[in-house]
Amino acid sequence: MKRDLISMDDLTLEDIKEFLQLAATVEELPAGEKMTKLVGKILMVMFFEPSTRTRLSFESAMCRLGGSVIGFNHQMATSVAKGESFIDTIHTVENYADIMVIRHPREGTGRLASETSRIPVINAGDGTNQHPSQTLLDLYTIQKFFGGIEGLKIAFVGDLKYSRTVHSLIRALMKFKDQDFLLVSPDTLRLPEYLKRAEKQDTVRFHETASLKEAVSWGDLIYMTRIQKERFPDLVEYEKVKDSYCIDEKMLEHAPECLRVLHPLPRVNEISYSVDRTTYAGYFEQVGNGLIMRQAILLQLLGVAI
Ligand code: CP
Repeated sequence: MKRDLISMDDLTLEDIKEFLQLAATVEELPAGEKMTKLVGKILMVMFFEPSTRTRLSFESAMCRLGGSVIGFNHQMATSVAKGESFIDTIHTVENYADIMVIRHPREGTGRLASETSRIPVINAGDGTNQHPSQTLLDLYTIQKFFGGIEGLKIAFVGDLKYSRTVHSLIRALMKFKDQDFLLVSPDTLRLPEYLKRAEKQDTVRFHETASLKEAVSWGDLIYMTRIQKERFPDLVEYEKVKDSYCIDEKMLEHAPECLRVLHPLPRVNEISYSVDRTTYAGYFEQVGNGLIMRQAILLQLLGVAI
Protein backbone atom coordinates (compact mmCIF):
# COMPACT_ATOMS: atom_id res chain seq x y z
CA MET A 1 0.00 0.00 0.00
CA LYS A 2 1.35 3.47 -0.82
CA ARG A 3 2.20 5.72 2.11
CA ASP A 4 1.34 9.43 2.30
CA LEU A 5 2.01 12.20 4.81
CA ILE A 6 -1.11 14.37 4.89
CA SER A 7 -2.13 15.08 8.49
CA MET A 8 -0.69 14.41 11.93
CA ASP A 9 -4.12 13.00 12.80
CA ASP A 10 -3.33 10.06 10.49
CA LEU A 11 -0.21 9.07 12.45
CA THR A 12 -0.10 6.99 15.62
CA LEU A 13 2.37 7.73 18.39
CA GLU A 14 4.38 4.73 17.17
CA ASP A 15 4.47 6.14 13.62
CA ILE A 16 5.81 9.45 14.94
CA LYS A 17 8.45 7.71 17.03
CA GLU A 18 9.52 5.74 13.95
CA PHE A 19 10.08 9.00 12.01
CA LEU A 20 12.07 10.43 14.93
CA GLN A 21 14.25 7.31 15.15
CA LEU A 22 14.82 7.28 11.40
CA ALA A 23 15.83 10.96 11.45
CA ALA A 24 18.37 10.21 14.19
CA THR A 25 19.80 7.39 12.06
CA VAL A 26 19.93 9.65 8.98
CA GLU A 27 21.79 12.28 11.00
CA GLU A 28 24.47 9.76 12.00
CA LEU A 29 24.94 8.30 8.52
CA PRO A 30 28.02 9.52 6.55
CA ALA A 31 27.09 11.66 3.53
CA GLY A 32 28.70 9.16 1.13
CA GLU A 33 26.48 6.32 2.34
CA LYS A 34 23.32 8.39 1.96
CA MET A 35 24.12 9.38 -1.64
CA THR A 36 23.10 5.99 -3.04
CA LYS A 37 19.81 5.46 -1.23
CA LEU A 38 17.41 7.05 -3.73
CA VAL A 39 19.36 6.83 -6.98
CA GLY A 40 16.88 6.62 -9.88
CA LYS A 41 13.99 8.09 -7.84
CA ILE A 42 12.32 11.38 -8.80
CA LEU A 43 10.66 13.87 -6.47
CA MET A 44 7.94 16.13 -7.94
CA VAL A 45 7.64 19.48 -6.11
CA MET A 46 4.37 21.34 -6.66
CA PHE A 47 4.20 24.66 -4.84
CA PHE A 48 1.05 26.71 -5.39
CA GLU A 49 2.16 29.02 -2.53
CA PRO A 50 5.54 30.65 -1.75
CA SER A 51 8.14 28.74 0.26
CA THR A 52 11.84 28.89 1.05
CA ARG A 53 12.51 26.20 3.65
CA THR A 54 10.02 23.48 2.82
CA ARG A 55 10.59 23.38 -0.93
CA LEU A 56 14.36 23.81 -0.87
CA SER A 57 14.92 21.40 2.01
CA PHE A 58 12.87 18.70 0.29
CA GLU A 59 14.84 19.33 -2.90
CA SER A 60 18.14 19.25 -1.02
CA ALA A 61 17.07 16.12 0.89
CA MET A 62 16.31 14.31 -2.38
CA CYS A 63 19.62 15.39 -3.92
CA ARG A 64 21.58 14.32 -0.85
CA LEU A 65 20.01 10.87 -1.11
CA GLY A 66 21.05 10.56 -4.75
CA GLY A 67 17.64 11.21 -6.32
CA SER A 68 16.44 13.85 -8.78
CA VAL A 69 13.91 16.68 -8.52
CA ILE A 70 11.45 18.17 -11.01
CA GLY A 71 8.49 20.50 -10.48
CA PHE A 72 7.26 24.06 -10.25
CA ASN A 73 6.89 26.80 -7.67
CA HIS A 74 4.15 28.85 -9.27
CA GLN A 75 0.90 27.61 -10.77
CA MET A 76 1.06 30.30 -13.48
CA ALA A 77 3.95 28.33 -14.97
CA THR A 78 1.69 25.28 -15.45
CA SER A 79 -1.45 24.42 -17.39
CA VAL A 80 -3.49 25.27 -14.28
CA ALA A 81 -3.19 28.81 -15.64
CA LYS A 82 -5.06 27.60 -18.74
CA GLY A 83 -7.86 26.15 -16.62
CA GLU A 84 -6.65 22.60 -15.98
CA SER A 85 -8.12 21.14 -12.80
CA PHE A 86 -6.10 20.11 -9.74
CA ILE A 87 -7.21 16.49 -10.19
CA ASP A 88 -6.11 16.37 -13.83
CA THR A 89 -2.80 17.93 -12.79
CA ILE A 90 -2.24 15.14 -10.23
CA HIS A 91 -3.25 12.42 -12.74
CA THR A 92 -0.68 13.88 -15.13
CA VAL A 93 2.32 14.44 -12.88
CA GLU A 94 2.01 11.05 -11.13
CA ASN A 95 3.45 9.60 -14.37
CA TYR A 96 6.61 11.64 -14.11
CA ALA A 97 7.83 10.97 -10.55
CA ASP A 98 7.99 8.45 -7.69
CA ILE A 99 6.77 10.78 -4.92
CA MET A 100 5.24 14.26 -4.84
CA VAL A 101 5.24 17.12 -2.36
CA ILE A 102 2.43 19.69 -2.59
CA ARG A 103 1.77 23.07 -1.00
CA HIS A 104 -1.55 24.73 -1.71
CA PRO A 105 -3.52 27.63 -0.20
CA ARG A 106 -6.71 25.58 0.05
CA GLU A 107 -7.42 23.25 3.00
CA GLY A 108 -7.89 19.61 2.00
CA THR A 109 -5.83 19.66 -1.20
CA GLY A 110 -3.19 17.35 0.28
CA ARG A 111 -5.90 14.81 1.10
CA LEU A 112 -7.47 15.19 -2.36
CA ALA A 113 -4.09 14.64 -3.99
CA SER A 114 -3.43 11.54 -1.88
CA GLU A 115 -6.81 10.05 -2.81
CA THR A 116 -6.16 10.80 -6.50
CA SER A 117 -2.50 9.89 -6.89
CA ARG A 118 -0.93 6.45 -7.43
CA ILE A 119 2.37 7.68 -5.95
CA PRO A 120 3.02 8.85 -2.34
CA VAL A 121 1.97 12.42 -1.51
CA ILE A 122 3.49 14.73 1.09
CA ASN A 123 1.35 17.64 2.25
CA ALA A 124 3.73 20.62 2.51
CA GLY A 125 0.99 22.86 3.91
CA ASP A 126 -2.68 23.10 2.90
CA GLY A 127 -4.07 26.51 3.78
CA THR A 128 -4.61 26.89 7.52
CA ASN A 129 -4.99 23.16 8.07
CA GLN A 130 -1.81 21.09 8.46
CA HIS A 131 1.94 21.06 7.78
CA PRO A 132 3.03 17.59 8.94
CA SER A 133 6.65 17.59 7.73
CA GLN A 134 7.18 20.82 9.69
CA THR A 135 5.68 19.13 12.74
CA LEU A 136 7.97 16.12 12.48
CA LEU A 137 11.02 18.40 12.29
CA ASP A 138 9.67 20.44 15.20
CA LEU A 139 9.27 17.27 17.28
CA TYR A 140 12.77 16.15 16.33
CA THR A 141 14.12 19.54 17.42
CA ILE A 142 12.22 19.41 20.71
CA GLN A 143 13.49 15.89 21.39
CA LYS A 144 17.07 16.96 20.74
CA PHE A 145 16.79 20.01 23.02
CA PHE A 146 15.00 18.32 25.91
CA GLY A 147 15.91 14.64 25.54
CA GLY A 148 12.23 13.71 25.16
CA ILE A 149 8.80 15.08 24.32
CA GLU A 150 6.69 14.19 27.35
CA GLY A 151 6.02 16.42 30.34
CA LEU A 152 6.88 19.71 28.65
CA LYS A 153 5.34 23.15 29.09
CA ILE A 154 5.02 24.80 25.69
CA ALA A 155 3.76 28.32 24.96
CA PHE A 156 2.33 28.94 21.48
CA VAL A 157 2.46 32.63 20.59
CA GLY A 158 0.91 34.73 17.82
CA ASP A 159 -1.44 33.57 15.11
CA LEU A 160 -3.03 30.47 16.61
CA LYS A 161 -6.12 30.73 14.41
CA TYR A 162 -4.57 30.44 10.95
CA SER A 163 -1.18 28.85 11.70
CA ARG A 164 -1.05 25.36 10.18
CA THR A 165 2.27 24.70 11.91
CA VAL A 166 0.62 25.30 15.30
CA HIS A 167 -2.42 23.21 14.38
CA SER A 168 -0.28 20.28 13.25
CA LEU A 169 2.11 20.48 16.20
CA ILE A 170 -0.61 20.67 18.83
CA ARG A 171 -2.40 17.66 17.31
CA ALA A 172 0.87 15.71 17.35
CA LEU A 173 1.91 16.73 20.87
CA MET A 174 -1.48 15.67 22.19
CA LYS A 175 -0.50 12.08 21.37
CA PHE A 176 2.34 12.30 23.92
CA LYS A 177 1.66 12.14 27.67
CA ASP A 178 1.43 14.99 30.14
CA GLN A 179 1.44 18.21 28.12
CA ASP A 180 0.81 21.78 29.27
CA PHE A 181 0.11 24.33 26.55
CA LEU A 182 -0.04 28.08 27.12
CA LEU A 183 -1.94 29.81 24.30
CA VAL A 184 -0.83 33.42 23.77
CA SER A 185 -2.71 35.32 21.07
CA PRO A 186 -4.84 38.35 20.35
CA ASP A 187 -8.53 37.63 20.92
CA THR A 188 -9.23 37.46 17.17
CA LEU A 189 -6.48 34.88 16.58
CA ARG A 190 -7.31 32.32 19.26
CA LEU A 191 -6.83 28.59 18.64
CA PRO A 192 -9.98 27.00 17.12
CA GLU A 193 -11.83 24.94 19.76
CA TYR A 194 -11.98 21.76 17.65
CA LEU A 195 -8.18 21.44 17.85
CA LYS A 196 -8.33 21.06 21.63
CA ARG A 197 -10.37 17.86 21.55
CA ALA A 198 -8.18 14.91 22.48
CA GLU A 199 -8.80 11.19 22.87
CA LYS A 200 -7.24 11.32 26.35
CA GLN A 201 -8.23 14.73 27.71
CA ASP A 202 -6.53 14.08 31.06
CA THR A 203 -3.04 14.11 29.53
CA VAL A 204 -3.33 17.62 28.02
CA ARG A 205 -3.95 20.90 29.82
CA PHE A 206 -4.63 24.18 28.00
CA HIS A 207 -3.95 27.57 29.62
CA GLU A 208 -4.48 31.00 28.06
CA THR A 209 -3.03 34.48 28.40
CA ALA A 210 -2.55 37.54 26.23
CA SER A 211 0.83 38.28 27.87
CA LEU A 212 4.09 37.30 26.15
CA LYS A 213 5.93 38.31 29.34
CA GLU A 214 4.06 35.57 31.21
CA ALA A 215 5.06 33.03 28.56
CA VAL A 216 8.76 33.85 28.94
CA SER A 217 8.84 32.80 32.59
CA TRP A 218 6.23 30.04 32.30
CA GLY A 219 7.65 27.02 30.54
CA ASP A 220 10.29 25.10 28.62
CA LEU A 221 9.57 26.28 25.10
CA ILE A 222 8.13 29.25 23.26
CA TYR A 223 6.83 28.47 19.78
CA MET A 224 6.56 31.85 18.08
CA THR A 225 4.56 32.36 14.90
CA ARG A 226 4.19 35.11 12.32
CA ILE A 227 0.91 37.00 12.08
CA GLN A 228 0.12 35.90 8.53
CA LYS A 229 -1.14 38.84 6.48
CA GLU A 230 -2.04 36.57 3.57
CA ARG A 231 -4.61 34.64 5.65
CA PHE A 232 -6.73 37.62 6.71
CA PRO A 233 -9.97 38.18 4.77
CA ASP A 234 -10.00 41.77 6.10
CA LEU A 235 -6.68 43.70 6.11
CA VAL A 236 -8.07 46.19 8.66
CA GLU A 237 -8.17 43.29 11.12
CA TYR A 238 -4.57 42.41 10.23
CA GLU A 239 -3.42 45.99 10.88
CA LYS A 240 -4.97 45.85 14.37
CA VAL A 241 -2.97 42.77 15.46
CA LYS A 242 0.16 42.69 13.27
CA ASP A 243 2.50 44.00 15.99
CA SER A 244 0.93 42.16 18.93
CA TYR A 245 4.03 40.23 20.01
CA CYS A 246 7.73 40.83 19.66
CA ILE A 247 10.30 38.98 21.74
CA ASP A 248 13.71 40.57 22.23
CA GLU A 249 16.90 39.94 24.21
CA LYS A 250 15.77 42.18 27.06
CA MET A 251 12.55 40.22 27.60
CA LEU A 252 14.64 37.07 27.96
CA GLU A 253 16.94 38.53 30.64
CA HIS A 254 15.17 36.65 33.45
CA ALA A 255 14.09 33.62 31.45
CA PRO A 256 14.97 30.13 32.76
CA GLU A 257 18.27 28.91 31.34
CA CYS A 258 16.65 25.86 29.72
CA LEU A 259 14.09 27.92 27.76
CA ARG A 260 14.20 27.58 23.96
CA VAL A 261 12.50 29.77 21.39
CA LEU A 262 11.38 28.00 18.22
CA HIS A 263 9.72 29.45 15.11
CA PRO A 264 8.78 27.65 11.87
CA LEU A 265 10.00 30.77 10.00
CA PRO A 266 9.80 33.02 8.06
CA ARG A 267 9.72 35.70 10.76
CA VAL A 268 8.71 39.32 10.19
CA ASN A 269 9.13 41.28 13.42
CA GLU A 270 8.03 38.84 16.15
CA ILE A 271 11.58 37.79 17.10
CA SER A 272 14.18 40.54 17.30
CA TYR A 273 17.55 39.80 15.70
CA SER A 274 19.07 40.39 19.15
CA VAL A 275 17.63 37.01 20.23
CA ASP A 276 19.67 35.18 17.56
CA ARG A 277 22.89 35.51 19.55
CA THR A 278 21.40 34.18 22.79
CA THR A 279 21.35 30.55 23.88
CA TYR A 280 17.54 30.68 23.78
CA ALA A 281 17.36 30.83 19.97
CA GLY A 282 16.54 27.42 18.52
CA TYR A 283 15.01 28.37 15.18
CA PHE A 284 18.06 27.98 12.96
CA GLU A 285 18.84 24.57 14.46
CA GLN A 286 15.20 23.83 13.65
CA VAL A 287 15.92 24.72 10.00
CA GLY A 288 18.89 22.33 9.96
CA ASN A 289 16.77 19.56 11.45
CA GLY A 290 14.30 20.12 8.62
CA LEU A 291 16.79 18.78 6.11
CA ILE A 292 17.42 15.69 8.23
CA MET A 293 13.76 14.97 8.89
CA ARG A 294 12.83 15.44 5.22
CA GLN A 295 15.42 12.88 4.21
CA ALA A 296 13.81 10.51 6.74
CA ILE A 297 10.34 11.25 5.33
CA LEU A 298 11.42 10.53 1.73
CA LEU A 299 13.07 7.26 2.75
CA GLN A 300 10.10 6.16 4.86
CA LEU A 301 7.43 6.93 2.25
CA LEU A 302 9.46 5.32 -0.53
CA GLY A 303 10.03 2.25 1.64
CA VAL A 304 13.83 2.41 1.43
CA ALA A 305 15.67 1.04 4.46
CA ILE A 306 18.92 2.46 5.78
N1 CP B 1 8.27 26.81 7.78
C1 CP B 1 7.94 26.90 6.46
O1 CP B 1 6.99 26.25 5.99
O2 CP B 1 8.70 27.77 5.76
P1 CP B 1 8.55 28.09 4.22
O3 CP B 1 7.20 28.78 4.05
O4 CP B 1 9.70 28.96 3.85
O5 CP B 1 8.53 26.78 3.47
